[in-house]
Amino acid sequence: MYLLDGAAGAGKMNSLMSRFNSLLAFTVTVLAALTFLVFLSTIFQQPRVPVSIRVSGISLKIYEDYTGNHDLGSINFSIFVDLGPVFNWNVKQLFLYLTAEYATAKNKLNQVVLWDKILQRGVNTRLNLQNMSPKYLLLDDGNGLIGNNVSLSLSWNIVPNAGILYLIPASGHKVIPLPEKYENIRSC
Ligand SMILES: *[C@@H]1O[C@H](CO)[C@@H](O)[C@H](O)[C@H]1NC(C)=O
Ligand SMILES: *[C@@H]1O[C@H](CO)[C@@H](O)[C@H](O)[C@H]1NC(C)=O
Repeated sequence: MYLLDGAAGAGKMNSLMSRFNSLLAFTVTVLAALTFLVFLSTIFQQPRVPVSIRVSGISLKIYEDYTGNHDLGSINFSIFVDLGPVFNWNVKQLFLYLTAEYATAKNKLNQVVLWDKILQRGVNTRLNLQNMSPKYLLLDDGNGLIGNNVSLSLSWNIVPNAGILYLIPASGHKVIPLPEKYENIRSC
C-alpha cells in the first residue's frame, strides 16, 4: 500500500520536519561555535609590526576663504611595512591609513587622515611606497600648522572573516617639524 491516509501522512511529515529542524538547529549551533572559536583564536594575536615612514617633501601655504586664513599643508611620504604577520587566517582585508596628529592652542589633538588604502588578502603584503603624494591635504581651522610638529603614523582596521573590527596602530611613527614659513618646500 503506497497511499497513506491523511493523518498518517501528516504525522510522517511532522516528524520529518522536526528532524530537519533539529538538524538545522544543531548545524547553526556548531557553525556559531566554530565562528566563535575562530574569533577567539585571533583576538589575542594581533601583532604590532614595525613601520618606517619618511617624509620626502612638505609644503605649507595659506588658504583663504570667507571664514578667514587657514594653514594648508601637503606632505609627500614614503612607507615601508611588511604586513605579512597581520594576515592570519581570520583577516579578510586591511584598511590602512596614514594620519597626521598635532596639537594646537585650540585643540589638544587634531587628527587628519592623509592617505588610505585597502589591502586585500592574497596580495603582496610587503609595501614599499616611495614618494607618495597625499590623497588628502592637511587643512587647519586656523594657523595651527606653521612651525608646529606633526606626528605621522600608520594604522589599520582589520576586516575579519568572523568577529569584530579591530583598530590597530602600527608601531613606529614619525614626528616632523613643519616649516616656519609659508610656501617652503624641503625634505627631512
Ligand atoms: C609631492 O610629489 C609630487 C609628485 O611627485 C610633486 O609634484 C610635489 O611637488 C611634491 N610636493 C612636495 C611638497 O614635495
Ligand atoms: C617640536 O619638537 C622639537 C623637538 O622635540 C621641540 O624642541 C619643539 O619645541 C617642538 N615644537 C613645538 C611647536 O611643539
